Amino acid sequence: MCGIVGYIGTRDAYPILIKGLHRLEYRGYDSAGLALIAADNKTLNVYKSRGKVADLERFAQSKDVTGFIGIAHTRWATHGEPNDVNAHPHYSQSENLALIHNGIIENYSTIRTELESKGYTFRSNTDTEVIVYLVEYIQQTNHVDLCTAVQLTLHQIVGAYAIAVIEKGNPNCIIAARKSSPLVIGIGDNEFFLASDATPIIEYTDKVVYLNDEEIAKIERDKPLKIINLKNVIITPQIKKLAMNLSQLEKGGYPHFMLKEIYEQPKTLLDCIRGRINVEGNNIVLSGVIDNRDKFVRASRIIIVACGTSWHAALIGEYLIEDWCRIPVEVEYASEFRYRNPVIHADDVVIAISQSGETADTLAAVELAKSKGAFIYGICNVIGSSIARATHSGSYIHVGPEIGVASTKAFTGQVTVLSMLALTIAKEKGSIPHKKYEEKVQALKNIPALLTEVLKQSDKIKELSKIFTYAHNFIYLGRGYNYPAALEGALKLKEISYIHAEGYPAAEMKHGPIALIDTEMPVVVIATADRIYEKTISNIQEIKARKGKIIAIVTEGDTVVKDIADVCIEVPKTIEEFEPIVSSIPLQLLAYFIAVNKGRDVDQPRNLAKSVTVE
Ligand code: F6R
Repeated sequence: MCGIVGYIGTRDAYPILIKGLHRLEYRGYDSAGLALIAADNKTLNVYKSRGKVADLERFAQSKDVTGFIGIAHTRWATHGEPNDVNAHPHYSQSENLALIHNGIIENYSTIRTELESKGYTFRSNTDTEVIVYLVEYIQQTNHVDLCTAVQLTLHQIVGAYAIAVIEKGNPNCIIAARKSSPLVIGIGDNEFFLASDATPIIEYTDKVVYLNDEEIAKIERDKPLKIINLKNVIITPQIKKLAMNLSQLEKGGYPHFMLKEIYEQPKTLLDCIRGRINVEGNNIVLSGVIDNRDKFVRASRIIIVACGTSWHAALIGEYLIEDWCRIPVEVEYASEFRYRNPVIHADDVVIAISQSGETADTLAAVELAKSKGAFIYGICNVIGSSIARATHSGSYIHVGPEIGVASTKAFTGQVTVLSMLALTIAKEKGSIPHKKYEEKVQALKNIPALLTEVLKQSDKIKELSKIFTYAHNFIYLGRGYNYPAALEGALKLKEISYIHAEGYPAAEMKHGPIALIDTEMPVVVIATADRIYEKTISNIQEIKARKGKIIAIVTEGDTVVKDIADVCIEVPKTIEEFEPIVSSIPLQLLAYFIAVNKGRDVDQPRNLAKSVTVE
């Protein structure tokens, strides 16, 4: 949902900004732009281009890109189509100021109308342009400096924003501010970096300050960082140390981040359980849960809020918690929950799941539940993200930066953390016999090794993907724990290959969707050897009888489904509860190879963005 980068210091700003934009391109990639105060310290150059950051680079090739201060932006359009004019930065009316913005300004049309009545003419169709026009208007009418003008402007703005603004003739200062959209400031030696997340900053410094809502940063050359809030209170910057390293942000020889991230999963799940499950024994110590033991043990209900893939992980969490802890669980789309006046009690535990930790709807759901007095627990990947900070406690999934827009390793990490959380609560509550608990923990410890085994099927999946590349529709089926895995498999396929795909609980087929089955319809069925294996086989027979093409995910050694299905992919045996972790790997690979065969932009599929910071 738009990426922001900024630099002020002694180095050339342009290469830092471009590199930063490439790192943030996963947040939006329909247009890009940058503004630099040229080395003469007088000229304010703004360059923008429709398309990707590489298009901007081509455009800027013959231009003056000198300067030691600049701001840059990669866009995911919300207001106004992706074109050169709507790309950021936006100039003020006099072209004295340049501003970049991530978020949505809800009252932009009121402000625009007001400014138009004062004689201003707007150049773009964006909501952003009103901010920079208003800053300039306030500067001129109130005779205040840039920082004060930004502060006064933000008092009039309704909506979400992370902004950065620079001023012609003032090469010594960037003003930045945030509300509901993330912003991180990197502190180097005589230089500052600014970004939507830490990835553009990490190679220069590991010292960062996360701006909080309604805070404004005055980032000045050769001066300490100053932060004030909208109420004019001076805030002492809290410097944090980044835990990420640079190699985690590179492709490491893989053609796409998505493939790298699929292959990383044996390691990322080890990282996820490391320090939480001891190597010798069979005991989980998930400190966030242990520290809040009573909240979980006494919870009358657990509500899980999330979006997209994280919502699919939440469904698995529901099955796990109800199964082992005997606590009722409700799983909600955060976007529905926040607007539907839900019943939330003070003894409810609300779990928010978010890879990015920035999803606007999930963050709003957290704030709503918090206002009703519930205890909020976050399961996030990005350390220091808004949701991680807004929750009372939580567990990171520790799978490292996920760059591919389609979520893979975050999903399996989320399910792994939910498994550890459910087992910990069950043990504390005494709702699981100790022997059973130990068996589950042992099974979880074995998962990384099983994933290494599944990944050996990659070549086979690559081959079979060729048969199905040109299908127009797909159906994914699963039952029990594998039902959310089927939903997730369908989402993976549709988002990166643009093939229409639907996931269903296998038994639901006969209540309508079975009408879709014909010889043209590939049906992916997860039919691993669990309690409801026989039932799943009956569902496969129903599809076979209607001549559907069956791609089955089966447990190693299966003979029955192999006789019925057109194609079988084997996965190693695990306990039923962890089957979705194992079975999701071939589904990720299938979606990946089909998308590659179709020549899709796998890491940056059309219309999507990695971090959805607008509602
Ligand atoms: C799908 C995908 C999205 C995200 C969703 C929530 O591959 O990536 O569906 O899962 O936008 O994002 P987070 O988990 O960052 O809140």
